[in-house]
Amino acid sequence: MIKIENLRKVYKNGNISVEALKNINLEVRDREFVSIMGPSGSGKSTLMNILGCLDRPTEGIYELDGESVQKMNDNQLAVIRNRKIGFIFQSFNLIPRINSLKNVELPMIYAGVPAKERREKAMDALDRVGLKDRMGHNPNELSGGQRQRVAIARSLVNNPSVIFADEPTGNLDTKAGSEIMGVFQQLNDEGVTIIMVTHELDIAQHTKRMIVCRDGEIIEDTPVKDRIIVNRQVEII
Ligand SMILES: Nc1ncnc2c1ncn2[C@@H]1O[C@H](COP(=O)(O)OP(=O)(O)O)[C@@H](O)[C@H]1O
Ligand SMILES: [Mg+2]
Repeated sequence: MIKIENLRKVYKNGNISVEALKNINLEVRDREFVSIMGPSGSGKSTLMNILGCLDRPTEGIYELDGESVQKMNDNQLAVIRNRKIGFIFQSFNLIPRINSLKNVELPMIYAGVPAKERREKAMDALDRVGLKDRMGHNPNELSGGQRQRVAIARSLVNNPSVIFADEPTGNLDTKAGSEIMGVFQQLNDEGVTIIMVTHELDIAQHTKRMIVCRDGEIIEDTPVKDRIIVNRQVEII
């Protein structure tokens, strides 16, 4: 699904340049559940932005579902993002004054999906994350964990090949963070490929494969041993 070879990213500001990614080689298969760890400034967000087609590498190869992404222009990248990619951010990025259902419908409004189908798909997605009974609530009437679940539902509606999450539990307390990891585990069991950045080891231990970055390089790439599984029998409130 994802293949990256000899990838470099250099940021240039005037005559100062920062080599944020040095020589990244990475393959991720369909249905994997990967965490990317590493200290602040190690290049995690840069890598996620390139993987998510929000930014382009300076050098190297990036293939997503067999398509070479590295040479695409902005419009082509936008098409790939809409068709193949779901995003989840630390700060949820929901629209404040509209309810959960409308927030989840939004990407489909942009995609031109008819109203009835939009509504059904949004309700389905909210159901998948255990939030159907909160579809009339605005973000300010929801807990942090619930807001993140709305964001996850929104990322699911266009049926993405892969979901990218940058510090999805960074604004949540331990309990809500664990709930969110439970939702990701359930979606991954259902076949969704997930790649997430975190700097917390116990969050990464919920995934199946851990990649560690330092100074713009991958220094470790290992299967997760003693994986933490969230008990989804417990009712999420
Ligand atoms: N837009 C940018 N312009 C210049 N330098 C940047 C930019 N974004 C990130 N950097 C630099 O690239 C390096 C990696 O940053 P980043 O990918 O945000 O790391 P992380 O997410 O692991 O904290 C850091 O040295 C950072 O200062
Ligand atoms: Mg970052």
